Amino acid sequence: MTDLNAIRDFALELAREAGETIVRARAQGVRTEYKAHLELVTDADVAVDNLIHGRIREAWPEHAILSEEAAPEQQVDVMRQGPLWVVDPIDGTVNFAHNQPQVAVSIAFMLDGEAQVGVVHAPFQNETFVAVKGQGATLNGQPIQVSGETDFRQALIATGFPYDKAPVPGLIKRLARVLGECRDVRRIGSAALDICWVAMGRLDAYYESVSPWDFAAARLIASEAGARCGHVYGVEGGVPEALYGRDIIISSPALYDHLRALVEEADLTALHID
Ligand code: IPD
Ligand code: CA
Ligand code: CA
Repeated sequence: MTDLNAIRDFALELAREAGETIVRARAQGVRTEYKAHLELVTDADVAVDNLIHGRIREAWPEHAILSEEAAPEQQVDVMRQGPLWVVDPIDGTVNFAHNQPQVAVSIAFMLDGEAQVGVVHAPFQNETFVAVKGQGATLNGQPIQVSGETDFRQALIATGFPYDKAPVPGLIKRLARVLGECRDVRRIGSAALDICWVAMGRLDAYYESVSPWDFAAARLIASEAGARCGHVYGVEGGVPEALYGRDIIISSPALYDHLRALVEEADLTALHID
């Protein structure tokens, strides 16, 4: 039997250590590069990933790790059974490089494709979101809940955009449709924080297509805080829902169906007009 509370304590301590490294790295000056000529990456992304990777290997040598910088080739592991760590060392790299505070370390622990523990730590804001499956979610130790908003016109909705610009026209159609019906839209720049902010009620709902490490931990946190989590078009290829990042929706429950319908309608319009 895996002791999930021990895993949570380990992940929490690790996320804080990673957070201190991130804060120090920014104080020393950020050096940026591009992955595949597209995605921004800094020396801190790699250093923090190596730190987290090393600590997990030391403590749990038999566990698999899917982390953005150190082992993205292990993407195949999204299908695996058994223990799997899913890690984004810095979620919000563009914010990190531009001296903005919305930056997070995201660490999820999964068993047989289901998230068991999630930690999202925002070191510049001193906010740490934690969940253990079945035990609820907390922010800095205090229980959190979704907003419970029921009126879409009063909802504050978040989304994001990929580094690859090809899908942008379709995403703008979605944005126009959603923005036309809600109070306003935010693009915070960290999917993990977007989702944790839904979990604690600063935002009412979120939609985007992301990678497993962007949302695995935050999705558990949101679900434990009462959010409804799903996909606009369901899940393909037998990938566990908790790791399938295409067209995810995470929402205060009463807003979910309407948000899903708006995104789908926007996609249909895009198909007809283009
Ligand atoms: C990005 C952030 C952003 C989302 C992008 C992600 P990164 O992660 O989560 O909010 O819109 O799709 O790639 O590159 O900062 O780790
Ligand atoms: Ca990310
Ligand atoms: Ca990242």
